[in-house]
Amino acid sequence: MNTQIIDGKSIASEIKEELRTRVENLKSQGITPGLAVILVGENPASKVYVSNKKKACEYIGMKSFSYELPAETSEKEVLDLVETLNEDTHVHGILVQLPLPKHMDEQKVILKIAPNKDVDGFHPQNVGALSIGLNGLVSCTPAGVIELLKRSNIEMQGKHCVVVGRSNIVGKPVSLLLLREHATVTICHSRTRDLESVLKQADIVVAAVGIPKFVKGSMLKSNVVVIDVGINRDENGKLCGDVDFESCTNIASHITPVPGGVGPMTIAMLMNNCVLAAATQGGTSN
Ligand code: GUN
Repeated sequence: MNTQIIDGKSIASEIKEELRTRVENLKSQGITPGLAVILVGENPASKVYVSNKKKACEYIGMKSFSYELPAETSEKEVLDLVETLNEDTHVHGILVQLPLPKHMDEQKVILKIAPNKDVDGFHPQNVGALSIGLNGLVSCTPAGVIELLKRSNIEMQGKHCVVVGRSNIVGKPVSLLLLREHATVTICHSRTRDLESVLKQADIVVAAVGIPKFVKGSMLKSNVVVIDVGINRDENGKLCGDVDFESCTNIASHITPVPGGVGPMTIAMLMNNCVLAAATQGGTSN
């Protein structure tokens, strides 16, 4: 079988082009979408993510407001900043880059973000909305997985989707989104018994366990669609996913590579959430 590689980078570019047009339209109505990004401390990976987010804003014509605070910043200062941004009509989206330094309660900070500006979709109100099918902001990586499948013309309705991983950021929300697309969903995790027999039944696998090359081709049935959400380093320090890519070629009908699969979609969906939030909030800008 000829396994088709899903090109997340090119699909993400397509989305960003569409968003540029939508931003132009919003601007002509007097609304310039704005994203505020808060980064506390010196985490090198976080700095790269934040810089990529700012570049993406610029590319699609949005404003970005950056708050890079020292690691010693108090929790109260961050909470006060979030409150100010909640009230600021130029800011339509607020993103607090995680992880926060240990002396802060991440949940407390997330709870402070106005749900209609919570472009990460982490606020319990947005999580709850997702679980009962109400409108809300959906977290970016899970939304990116669904968009990749849709734009690759992969039907989800009635399919057996096996999600490996149950995190709040990916496993749980992606399972709810797949359910919303009328898939039959099984969630597996580190304590699942006989994971292989469950995986063998999957029409679509979403791997989000955080273990390098955990899912092997030998665990899968032929023609399966494999979506790899993992970002790890292998024994040689090379970037790799939660799926052993090589062993899946010629078994899977479609597979996402790492890098260049789900990763670029996360930022594209963040931009999409900012544009949605701006369109919903309207108000003054420029
Ligand atoms: N840190 C790693 N991934 C993410 C993300 O998607 N959002 C935020 N805010 N922080 C992160």
